[in-house]
Amino acid sequence: MSDSSSGKAPATTTTGLARLLPSIEAASSAASSTSHSSAIKSCCAAVYGSELVALFLPDGYHPGGSDLTRRLADLVGVGRGARVLDVGSGAGTTALLLAEERGAEVVGVDLGEAQVSRARAAAERRGLSHLVRFEVGDAEGLPFPDESFDVVISECAFCTFPSKDVASREFARVLRPSGRVGLSDIWLEPERLDDELRGLAGWVACVADARPVAELCRILEAAGLEVTRAERHDQALAATIGKVQAAIRALKIIDLPILRGLNFGRGLHLANRAATLVDDGDAGYVLVAARRCP
Ligand SMILES: C[S@@+](CC[C@H](N)C(=O)[O-])C[C@H]1O[C@@H](n2cnc3c(N)ncnc32)[C@H](O)[C@@H]1O
Repeated sequence: MSDSSSGKAPATTTTGLARLLPSIEAASSAASSTSHSSAIKSCCAAVYGSELVALFLPDGYHPGGSDLTRRLADLVGVGRGARVLDVGSGAGTTALLLAEERGAEVVGVDLGEAQVSRARAAAERRGLSHLVRFEVGDAEGLPFPDESFDVVISECAFCTFPSKDVASREFARVLRPSGRVGLSDIWLEPERLDDELRGLAGWVACVADARPVAELCRILEAAGLEVTRAERHDQALAATIGKVQAAIRALKIIDLPILRGLNFGRGLHLANRAATLVDDGDAGYVLVAARRCP
């Protein structure tokens, strides 16, 4: 956790992650709001940068996979030659799809150095480096000039940003007039969360700071973006949680050194709690399309 004050993700190995997890909730109680916010960003990026997470989310890091990425790309009109910024690009799945299938020129930005390295390697392997590049950067201070993109996409990352207002203003700033924003994100009725889910383990699982759909739309509109569509895909979230539950059950009976030290019982308990939220209609997944007011 030594890098938390810089907001940069610490380098995380699989065994390092097992050590990191018990300290996650401690990070959430950091004294000032600035250190709290840095600790959350740092932990979140470190967890998603770990190869271990891929064992629990083998089909990718956002609900709905490639199908929902294509749907989002249709809603915001990503076509050949479009300049696209993917914020919270993770392993590069969305950016690579948009380049390969749509012929877009994509820049992916992520706080985690491990994610950026992995995404660059994937672009190289797939022969897409001429269309896609990846950089380390913070959604709340994007390292790009004003009006430099046609589209900003962010999949399953907005819910992890401590300041959604600041990130939304950054989206609007880097978009050309009438440029579009496409978010896919977890939505949630926050009053349905108890302290357990609200802890940083919840942040990392993309749950604790998710917002209701109407609030997500208000945040974007306050940043000068006009929401053109909000489309719910709650079943996609239920399916992802189901896969996580199945992975936890399978992995806990395998004695792999990289899994030692993980608390499977607590992981399954949190996943079950999240499944209940979705079943009860208190959480789900949403695609939101918006455009920058001219
Ligand atoms: C759940 S993963 C989603 C990754 C990718 N969008 C996908 O759908 O596969 C969330 C990603 O957001 C990144 N992230 C979290 N906070 C960030 C921030 N403030 N700025 C940039 N990236 C951030 C994390 O490092 C992580 O890679």
